[in-house]
Amino acid sequence: MSLESLFKYIDQHKKDYIERLAEIVAIPSVSAEITKRQDVVRMGEWLKDELERLGAKTKRVDPGMQSIEGQEIPYPPVILGSLGEDPNKKTVLVYGHYDVQPALKEDGWNTDPFTLTESNGRLYGRGSTDDKGPVLGWFLMIEAHQKLGIELPVNIKMCFEGMEESGSEGLDEVIEQEANGWFKGVDCVCISDNYWLGRNKPCLTYGLRGVSYFRIVVTGPGADLHSGVFGGAVHEPMTDLIHLMSKLVTPQGKILIPGIMDEVAPLTDEEKATYSTLDFSIDDLQSSIGAQNNIYDDVPNTLMARWRYPSLSLHGIEGAFYNPGQKTVIPAKVSGKFSIRTVPDMTVEKVTEIVSDYIKAEFGKLDSKNQLFVECMHAGRPWMSSPNHWNYVAGAQAVKKVFGLEPDLTREGCSIPVTLTFQEVLQKNVLLLPVGACDDGAHSINEKLNVSNYIEGIKLLGAYCHELATVKKTD
Ligand code: BES
Ligand code: ZN
Repeated sequence: MSLESLFKYIDQHKKDYIERLAEIVAIPSVSAEITKRQDVVRMGEWLKDELERLGAKTKRVDPGMQSIEGQEIPYPPVILGSLGEDPNKKTVLVYGHYDVQPALKEDGWNTDPFTLTESNGRLYGRGSTDDKGPVLGWFLMIEAHQKLGIELPVNIKMCFEGMEESGSEGLDEVIEQEANGWFKGVDCVCISDNYWLGRNKPCLTYGLRGVSYFRIVVTGPGADLHSGVFGGAVHEPMTDLIHLMSKLVTPQGKILIPGIMDEVAPLTDEEKATYSTLDFSIDDLQSSIGAQNNIYDDVPNTLMARWRYPSLSLHGIEGAFYNPGQKTVIPAKVSGKFSIRTVPDMTVEKVTEIVSDYIKAEFGKLDSKNQLFVECMHAGRPWMSSPNHWNYVAGAQAVKKVFGLEPDLTREGCSIPVTLTFQEVLQKNVLLLPVGACDDGAHSINEKLNVSNYIEGIKLLGAYCHELATVKKTD
């Protein structure tokens, strides 16, 4: 079948598609903020209604309760969908997330983050690229088929969650429960929740890093103290904490925890060669970070640092004084947060053990009478797929149909916890098929999705289904 009429229809509906994206960007479905939980739920219900409008069977699964800041609140629902049950067609499982990162205009946005704003071919708004644009892309691709009377060439199962940005809590259990239920008969999985390596060329992604998120808590006095009255006479928790946090990583990005590299898979010459063949430049990197503060000046070392070696980032200190102005306080309790992005073949158990042992040993050297508590708050493992699988062949052919190009094969430094769960629980191949570009600024201020990436992305998701239908299934 020629995809020409489908592509033409999608081009003609650009304006409508942008309005539809605006409608969901306006729902501030921030999973990290309790006060927004109702909006997250509302967003999930919007997707369920929309799926039903498309004629899909749906199911709402509520994964239970979350304890947060001493309160119990329900997790947002997992929305399952199913369209088509033709035994002669392949079945693809599509995953996306409908929650977004927090955003405040005061953080430095040029426009209101929850009002989709078009400017210079770009659609600015929280969630535009991560992940509302791609999620809506699946719906619009299905709708376009229906409006044109073109039969969908595959059966589509869907799984949309509202806790991805907060570690996908509760989702693994749902997948395990539904492995032989809702997800029965799935042949392959596709996720559109990452970005092109550069700004111009599409890619298929076959690897993600894991993440282990830690908290170091130091407590001392019974309450916050006046620094004029007690300064000099007490062990200050913040001083201990800053000292400990400074022992984790160097300004050159070298992790200082002994043994952290022990489990990292060695680099082969064959793998090394792949980093020089990709459509990516230091210019692309600088455009994505909006500065020139890159550690490496060459592409291979930059990509290896992002994809195949662990990194450690310091995120924040809870309990520290942070308002403008001066407050002469000695905080009584502070929690330092940091995370380590992990790579094959690092294990969660070993990382947790060496990190806690090291921090405790360093704290011991301080001779402080304060108390220390270290915990791993959340851990997800790294993921690698087989890029030679027929699922990737279909993805590559779809890219060719839409863009006339061979996609780059990439890995990513970020994490999407569910990729590994799908692979291990369903025993099926998972493909990451990105829609957005490298400079979209997911999680940052002024997040955007280019109009062209959005529209071509809808075509790409449609073309992928058609290529899946014709590609030879070998396992
Ligand atoms: N869409 C991102 C994942 C991503 C970002 C993949 C960039 C590839 C390139 C996703 O929404 C995300 O941010 N995930 C979190 C997961 C974490 C909370 C477990 C992440 O990586 O920080
Ligand atoms: Zn995302």
